Amino acid sequence: MKYLILRNPGHNRVYYTQAAKLAIAELEIASTHFSTECKEISHDTLGGISYISVELEKEMNEEDILIVSKLSFIFALYQEIENADGRKLLNPIELPRYEVVNSKISNLIKYKGKTNEIFTRMMINVGIMSIDINGKKGFDFEGKEIKLLDPVAGRGTTLFESAIYGYSTYGIEIEKKSTTEAQNFFKKFLKQEKWVHSDRKYALNNGKNGKVKGIQYMYAHSRAELKEKQGYILDILNGDAQDVGTYFKGNSIHLIVGDLPYGIVHANKSAKGNSQEPKSPSRNPSTLIEKCIPGWFKVLKKGGAVVLAWNSYTISREDLSEVFEAKGFEVLDSKAYSDFEHMVDQSIKRDLIIARKK
Ligand SMILES: C[S@@+](CC[C@H](N)C(=O)[O-])C[C@H]1O[C@@H](n2cnc3c(N)ncnc32)[C@H](O)[C@@H]1O
Repeated sequence: MKYLILRNPGHNRVYYTQAAKLAIAELEIASTHFSTECKEISHDTLGGISYISVELEKEMNEEDILIVSKLSFIFALYQEIENADGRKLLNPIELPRYEVVNSKISNLIKYKGKTNEIFTRMMINVGIMSIDINGKKGFDFEGKEIKLLDPVAGRGTTLFESAIYGYSTYGIEIEKKSTTEAQNFFKKFLKQEKWVHSDRKYALNNGKNGKVKGIQYMYAHSRAELKEKQGYILDILNGDAQDVGTYFKGNSIHLIVGDLPYGIVHANKSAKGNSQEPKSPSRNPSTLIEKCIPGWFKVLKKGGAVVLAWNSYTISREDLSEVFEAKGFEVLDSKAYSDFEHMVDQSIKRDLIIARKK
């Protein structure tokens, strides 16, 4: 049974041309969750248009179509049918809507240092499809059950993409300005989209470093739902990624997703002292990761995953894998997992590492 997928032309041409092999890698990982065996994934050209083709043992069932509809690059899905005279026809398959929050949320703002939203969704998907918590995998989890954390949240692309899935979403960002902008934007969005919502400002003790402040939004379909605290959560904290272990309970997070500073637009900053004027920016994300890993290990559930995008010019995949493995993680390294490296510009070769807590 053959299916053809058209990729979303997206908003960013540079990313689109780079992203063909990433799409294949994401689809390969997704296909391991299909109800039927995947025989081949490749590129195909039909009538001058290029598609990604998927050859399956049997027809996709509803769950398979739902998985495909969540792929970061999806634009349209067709089943190939051969008619009596051998001509190939494409039968369009309707993609189910699953979005809790309007998916335009992460397209609405553009800024320097923003992570491409399609790439961000891919990171979340690959992470979700890699978790294995008490035998429960991937999209088996109900939206709100998943707690997703971006410890280097910037102005919130990961948080907003996570909200689209209805996940319980937590972000930490060291720069006060970015934190406030993400908070203000989300509040405005909730109002515009007419969500019933509340916002709770809070402060956490952070040992010698004083207090860190955040806002937790709860948004719901009705007042009753909100009153019973049954809404969705999005929480943004102005803090330091290396202190995650003091902000969250142990074994509470399913998935950590972050686009690390590249040492170009954003340096890695440590907030010790003052979160508005962070000290000792470092150009090497490995310093940040090494400091963060113990806390990330603590807050993740066993079988939960970390997905990080980083500039592989600053630290190699091998060295980064060693850092993770030394701290009790299993780095996923089958072919699809090692196929995410791509050029962003002359100084950034971006790659993804996916590690699971053992
Ligand atoms: C590549 S940007 C993330 C951009 C984000 N995904 C977005 O689209 O808005 C990396 C972010 O990490 C933040 N950062 C750097 N060091 C940090 C630390 N120690 N704790 C928390 N955030 C940090 C930077 O301020 C920057 O906003």
